[in-house]
Amino acid sequence: MLNFEFQNPTKIIFGKGQIAALAKEVPADATILMTYGGGSIKSNGVYEQVIAALGDRKVIEFSGIEPNPSYETLMKAVEIMRAEKVTFVLAVGGGSVIDGTKFLVAAVDYEGADPWEILTKPVRTVKAMPFGTVLTLPATGTEMNSGAVITRYSTQEKLGMGGPGLFPAFSILDPEVIKSIPPRQLVNGVVDAYTHVLEQYMTYPAGAWLQDRFAESIMQTLIEVAPKIIANPADYEAASNFMWSCTMALNGLIQKGVPTDWATHAIGHELTALYGIDHAMTLAIIFPQLYKVQFDNKKEKLAQYGERLFGITEGSLEERATLAIQKTIDFLHSLGVKTRLSEYTSDYADTGAFVEERFTKRGWLGLGERKAITPAVARQIVELSY
Ligand code: NZQ
Ligand code: ZN
Repeated sequence: MLNFEFQNPTKIIFGKGQIAALAKEVPADATILMTYGGGSIKSNGVYEQVIAALGDRKVIEFSGIEPNPSYETLMKAVEIMRAEKVTFVLAVGGGSVIDGTKFLVAAVDYEGADPWEILTKPVRTVKAMPFGTVLTLPATGTEMNSGAVITRYSTQEKLGMGGPGLFPAFSILDPEVIKSIPPRQLVNGVVDAYTHVLEQYMTYPAGAWLQDRFAESIMQTLIEVAPKIIANPADYEAASNFMWSCTMALNGLIQKGVPTDWATHAIGHELTALYGIDHAMTLAIIFPQLYKVQFDNKKEKLAQYGERLFGITEGSLEERATLAIQKTIDFLHSLGVKTRLSEYTSDYADTGAFVEERFTKRGWLGLGERKAITPAVARQIVELSY
């Protein structure tokens, strides 16, 4: 096991009816910017619950944070925060609203020339304006981590930011919000969370038995819960297990003491930036090919995963590892997920070359747990996904 430090300050308030807890969690004298997306919270009752819990606090609303939150939209909110002397931000939404809010709290007092530098330099955010969240879509884990991903339309870039100042003060996780989530977003949630576990697990053995079993148990739970939640998002037992699995997949716990990969996410973000493909679907396109290209580096963990998740015990290490990749692709297909880039866009022919050039320019010369994914290897992975 590798050395590690672990600190996660986010308070989780989990369960039915817990949105009411905002009344005690949000400072009574705060000037609040309440951020949300395109309006789902207005049709599923979440908005009313939030407003009721906030009582007579001063609340300014900022809506319209889009999926894959954009710098262009968010800078409008930064202006409002400065003009209105906002002291606390409350994000009510999915990963996009929460990530967008992390950008706001980092950008509002940013002293450099342009807050976009936070993404490009990148700047580690150590201190930011306090914020809390009401999660409406389990998927990203952003409700309990200190990362965010922001898109800039004008340059077709999608980049990450982070730092200890970006943990939410609290996050309210009421599984009842899942009832109104459309099937496409439920599938996205399952695939995103599953891939988060893979990014922190499918590397090489590090003698971290407990972390491996945490990771395997999250994936096992997601496999079990996925068909149930898609068939009936009002199934509270399934919804609560789904929600907690997504949070646990990316709150920092399972990555401690182990090597991590994250190249699937880095490459996937390019597919969203170029073609607007949903984040989770970009992962489903990339990781199966990445595992084939990085087979020798990952085969031990692939075989362990195959045995523990799918009961694969027959054949050589290589045969078991190969079958484990196929079983994972079968799982994606069972959810109706398409795993080829050409199934999402017809404009794919130059994507591999584009990714190679962009990663080279950025100096991303060796991604993955062994830094083996050079820009040329990233290109090979993308081209195999056509
Ligand atoms: O905008 P509204 O109207 O709210 O509708 C949203 C949106 O259209 C809808 N939705 C959310 N909750 C709902 C609901 N519809 C009905 N009922 C509800 N209860 O779902 C749509 C998608 O929402 P979005 O927030 O974009 O989805 P998700 O949570 O999957 O977030 C994706 C973003 O998170 C980033 C992704 O890159 C992407 O930008 N990620 C953030 C990470 C992090 N900070 O740690 C890690 C991830 O790997 C990921 O990169
Ligand atoms: Zn993700």
